[in-house]
Amino acid sequence: MEIRSTTDKDLDVFVDTLHAAFGRFPETPAEGGGGVWWAALEMDRNLFAMTADGRPVGTAGAYSFELTLPGDIPVPAAGVTAVGVLPSHRRRGVLSAMMRHQLTELRARGEFLSVLLASEALIYRRFGYGPATYTQRLTVPRHQGALALPRVRTTAGAPATASDGGTVEVLRRAECGEILEEVYDRYRRAQPGALSRPHRWWALGAGQPPVSSAPRHVAVHRDACGVPDGYAGYAVDAGTLTVDETIATDDAVFTALARFVLEHDLVTQVVFQHVPPEHPLRWQLADLRAGEVSGVTDWLWVRLLDVPRALTARGWSMDGELVLDVDDPFLGEHGRYLLTARDGKADCVPTDREPDLSLDMSDLGSVYLGGTAPSTLIRAGHIRAHRPGAATLADALFRAERPPHCLHWF
Ligand SMILES: CC(C)(COP(=O)(O)OP(=O)(O)OC[C@H]1O[C@@H](n2cnc3c(N)ncnc32)[C@H](O)[C@@H]1OP(=O)(O)O)[C@@H](O)C(=O)NCCC(=O)NCCS
Repeated sequence: MEIRSTTDKDLDVFVDTLHAAFGRFPETPAEGGGGVWWAALEMDRNLFAMTADGRPVGTAGAYSFELTLPGDIPVPAAGVTAVGVLPSHRRRGVLSAMMRHQLTELRARGEFLSVLLASEALIYRRFGYGPATYTQRLTVPRHQGALALPRVRTTAGAPATASDGGTVEVLRRAECGEILEEVYDRYRRAQPGALSRPHRWWALGAGQPPVSSAPRHVAVHRDACGVPDGYAGYAVDAGTLTVDETIATDDAVFTALARFVLEHDLVTQVVFQHVPPEHPLRWQLADLRAGEVSGVTDWLWVRLLDVPRALTARGWSMDGELVLDVDDPFLGEHGRYLLTARDGKADCVPTDREPDLSLDMSDLGSVYLGGTAPSTLIRAGHIRAHRPGAATLADALFRAERPPHCLHWF
């Protein structure tokens, strides 16, 4: 088994092999190669696993993203993608070989974080990835969708005036130009757990709606000066209005967009896809029970490739000291680190002090963005706490200013 890098020339075979791993056939791209999710693949970052007679049987790739860390700090992160092994070659270690090769290569490029979305939750923990952000769906019957918040009167003929003094206008996806890209970019820089969406994704329509050019209406919110600061991409089908994503640069904008879709005529229910855990929208409904949460699932999985760099890159909202004993069985590595958080930043240095917590790399990935409390993983038997108070301190230290959330699909 040989693992080799791909080039642009390999694109067709790469896409065919990957689709075969999923038992599917690729769609036909639009003229110019866009309109399909794989249009944004970075072929110089991807891998083939080849048999001895030169046939590709496995694929893995990486995108160049930025990930926003607690403290609203965007840093580079490799977005692992396009992972597949032909059904005829499974469970012989092909994926393990590709993962090992890829992690080594990412480190050689100087990357310290990699992230992915897992098709199945059983696959990636062994490679050091841990589920780090979560997402859910909120369904609200329209007749119960009143918000317990005052509304501002609208002027006939003018765009709807939102409760925050801004306006909401409905555009078709194709009319949005670069509005969505710009708003998304402002939003993701201030949302822990969010990923960048590089320009080529929008330009090529590579991804899920509203990044793709699938027909959608988009409610665009503008502030009092007319600057776009939020949008909700949606479609109505058989009385259900489904919002693909609600992107808002602050909570008041989110509320204005939520009110807008909840007041849509000829709709029996509104489904908000990708609502972050603990989002305040349910609390804004006059009827708290009207919002039904479903589809709660893990989204972004995180792996640290360099523990001190990763821990010093994020912001810390509390002062404190923790000794972490970190095991990385997949790479056969082990390290003990003294983490000292002070005034929003941290130092992280090797130490031989007694540990407060022992954990493996996938658990460190889970707690890293503040989306999973260390105490939950202690109670689950994943992390070991070596002294009373260590769990409480770790919870307080790792917590982000608000739950990390990612809704970018890749
Ligand atoms: C998931 C997939 C890539 C695994 O490839 P593979 O070459 O069979 O994986 P490996 O042989 O290297 O497996 C390594 C270990 O992971 C386990 N494993 C791999 N896939 C697993 C799965 N889907 N569920 C449970 N365990 C799995 C193997 O049993 C093996 O365990 P072991 O070390 O205890 O023997 C392959 O099954 C596949 O292409 N599936 C369909 C597409 C897909 O889901 N891709 C992932 C997209 S995120």
